[in-house]
Amino acid sequence: MAALEVQAAALQAQFGRAGAVAFEASPLGGVVARLTAGGGSACVALQGAQVLSWVPQTGHRDVLWCSPLSRLGTAKAVRGGIPVCWPWFGPHPNAALGLPAHGFVRTAMWHVESVGTAPGQSSITLSVALTADQQAIAGRGVSVSFCVTLGPHLEPSLDVELTTTNNGEAAFELTEALHTYFAISDIGAARIEGLKGRTFLDQLTGQKAVQSGAIQFAQETDRIYWDTSAPLQIIDAALGRTITIHSRSSASTVVWNPWYEKAVRLGDVPPEGFRDFVCVETANVGPRNGVRVAPGEVHRMACRISCTQQS
Ligand code: BG6
Repeated sequence: MAALEVQAAALQAQFGRAGAVAFEASPLGGVVARLTAGGGSACVALQGAQVLSWVPQTGHRDVLWCSPLSRLGTAKAVRGGIPVCWPWFGPHPNAALGLPAHGFVRTAMWHVESVGTAPGQSSITLSVALTADQQAIAGRGVSVSFCVTLGPHLEPSLDVELTTTNNGEAAFELTEALHTYFAISDIGAARIEGLKGRTFLDQLTGQKAVQSGAIQFAQETDRIYWDTSAPLQIIDAALGRTITIHSRSSASTVVWNPWYEKAVRLGDVPPEGFRDFVCVETANVGPRNGVRVAPGEVHRMACRISCTQQS
């Protein structure tokens, strides 16, 4: 057996649960956990604890977009699914350190802590062992874990929760995001509701503005909305579906689509692939919404994604 199959088999023996949690070697090149519950399924890569796929019901389309050009097991994060950005969002504030954008855990190998099952529900919790250098940046005694839960709710749903624990002696300041790539019929046809009246920073111009009405897309868009708490909806009439995002302990929302030219520069989005997704990110972004975790405190940022599909 190849190394990935051996690793998957060992995890299966220790954590596999019939009909609920299975470990497999992914065609993308790494090991993934497949959760099944209530007719839905989700796929979570050990690299980055990255959810790569969520199909709410058998026969439905994936709610998450994942680039066919990405592979696991490389130094670059998979472009798609739900990358975990921690303990900073965007570029590190100190450019001189040469640290990667969006933190260091989205490409790290995570470990399975536990799996859980209940009627109509399955879950997995992962954690990451920070290297000494990473621990020095994050602060001694700071740790992070990530839990993915499929169902059960009235409508198909996926819950993800990013937990920061500070068992150190100094306060820890972080920014973070669940950088979700939602699959849509076409970027020109989808709209996002729930941010009307919110102030945003346009990262492309450096200007601030207030959102009026729904967000629609006709060009590259890269915005940080501050002080957001209402549920958001991605309305996709062509697919006949509405995705709803309820975030918790998240005060910012990032909305991003690279459009054509930036997608070409990124190199891991197929030509015209920018049309197929929009990122709506549950986040805490500085300077306004950074988080301070005091010694002995636990901070949990979470979101529940649900999906209604007209049949
Ligand atoms: C978004 C940022 O969250 O992520 C954008 O707002 C950035 O500025 C995008 O370009 C993608 O980042 P990356 O590191 O995955 O290419």
